[in-house]
Amino acid sequence: MTKTKIATTSDVSTDKVLKTSANGQSVLVAKVGDQYCAVANKCPHLGLPMAKGKFENGVITCPFHGSKFEICTGKNVEWVDSFVGIPLPGAAKKMMAMGKAPTDVANFAVTQDGDDLSIDA
Ligand code: FES
Repeated sequence: MTKTKIATTSDVSTDKVLKTSANGQSVLVAKVGDQYCAVANKCPHLGLPMAKGKFENGVITCPFHGSKFEICTGKNVEWVDSFVGIPLPGAAKKMMAMGKAPTDVANFAVTQDGDDLSIDA
């Protein structure tokens, strides 16, 4: 792994995620409180991009099936509960999960050097 610049502090806000990349890997970065945080832009459910998902209180919601992840830890806090924003009943959630167990999204430690933000990727 090498340290790769992903953004500058002025690129990143607290109310939306910034889609960027590191070594060919798509990455989402945001500011939560005073902390810069980054996760892979690849939902662990079906590997789809999450950049267009809702971002609120440090949590990114996958726009496809509603799984939610803390951007500062990658921790899964909700697993497959909707289909393109439409809530699913219990049995349909299980079907939509396709047998996949709740999984955290890859998380990256962000280092700040002046205005530059980097991750090891
Ligand atoms: S691809 Fe993200 S919840 Fe299904």
